[in-house]
Amino acid sequence: MEKFFINGHSPLKGEVNISGAKNAAVAIIPAAILSDGVCQIENIPNINDVTLMAHILEQIGAKVKMINKSTFEIDTRYINSYVSSSDSVRHMRASCYLLGALLGRFHKASVSLPGGCDFGVRPIDQHLKGFSSLGATYSIEGGLVNVSAERLVGSSVYMDVVSVGATINIILAAVKAEGTTIIENAAKEPHIVDLANFLNSMGAEISGAGTDSIKIKGVSYLSGTKYSIIPDQIEAGTYMIATAATRGDVLIKNVIPKHLEAITAKLQEIGVHVEEFDDALRVFSDGALRKCNVKTMPHPGFPTDMQPQITALLSIANGTSIINENVWDNRFRYTDELNRFGCKISVDGKVAVVEGVSALTGTSVRALDLRAGAAMVIAGLAAYGTTVIEDVKHIERGYENIVEKLSALGADIKKVYVPDDASVLKAL
Ligand code: EPU
Repeated sequence: MEKFFINGHSPLKGEVNISGAKNAAVAIIPAAILSDGVCQIENIPNINDVTLMAHILEQIGAKVKMINKSTFEIDTRYINSYVSSSDSVRHMRASCYLLGALLGRFHKASVSLPGGCDFGVRPIDQHLKGFSSLGATYSIEGGLVNVSAERLVGSSVYMDVVSVGATINIILAAVKAEGTTIIENAAKEPHIVDLANFLNSMGAEISGAGTDSIKIKGVSYLSGTKYSIIPDQIEAGTYMIATAATRGDVLIKNVIPKHLEAITAKLQEIGVHVEEFDDALRVFSDGALRKCNVKTMPHPGFPTDMQPQITALLSIANGTSIINENVWDNRFRYTDELNRFGCKISVDGKVAVVEGVSALTGTSVRALDLRAGAAMVIAGLAAYGTTVIEDVKHIERGYENIVEKLSALGADIKKVYVPDDASVLKAL
């Protein structure tokens, strides 16, 4: 088992480059299924979720060539199957985008029910509602979601909940449908705009992405394209908070400051300095950290994917902070792990009460999921002494070269292979 060892309590200092956005990449790679040409996609983060998504495309006949470490050339013209049901598919939430993409291309898709991080029920009813509005029928049998349509015809879809995944899937299914589709109450996250820009660069006619009403005029042909993915808002936010928690001073480069406004505003409320440049932010923290209340919301609200990280930071602020999780039902399981550092966090349903403490002490913890794992790294960097984090595979799903990037900022962090009891016993 691979573990992170962190000797904490030294300030992060220097510059860090933010990679391409995970959640844009895992939507744009399957969106290439809709292209009638070859797509060259740049600024792809080198993370496990992306490798898995590329592999899933190859399993159904796509050719994915790595041009360099952050550029893929994807040729989906010879895809020969609308069925995607491997173990890889089951392990990844974003594999549900194959439903929209394959339905859009073949008018048929059979895809395993998706997995992903576990923060409560993760339904796909809004995805299916969207497909039905376009004329598709569906069934769920033996762990497979089957959708099919004689014809896909544009229509109006009102989403009952703001869902990133459903908005993306409906765009994918509608982009080559007959006529015009309008998605009302659509999600507005930056990666939805990025997906629409990618599809438009191939000749799609999508307008309104980034607002709650998206209009998609169906087209019959999408050319190949060359496209560069936006920087990762959540990776940037994680480095912003790690800098604040260690009382550091870091220039966070290759970001879109507009995408980080909600995080910047909260950090300033906490007493952290944030200076904005065209495509960089300088974050530094030298005074006291103040309590503040946080409510997670769909974009442009405070992102749920930054909730564990800001909870770790508020654990060492003066006073008591209240965190309301408004997107997921069960996203506070990691607080038991944070409390091992000496944090004082109590949870009641979707509300956490964080009583600030003066210092944290290194300990052994688990990364329960990707962002929970990021919170453990932040707490470990801030804590006195040594922290050991298990299950770092979750962290590596979404953070490119995190050990190298933090080391370059002066952190004492190492990834170490530690044989687990089972492999030690086997070797005896
Ligand atoms: N929901 C429904 N029905 C649906 C779909 C969603 O009720 O058909 C509910 C969910 O249960 C949840 C809420 O709507 O309560 C929002 O879910 P959404 O569909 O927006 O989430 P997602 O598309 O499954 C993406 C990100 C998550 C991020 C959420 C919210 C990807 C691959 N995943 O998930 O990112 O938390 O949006 O912003 O884009 C992460 O990167 O760590 C991560 C988990």
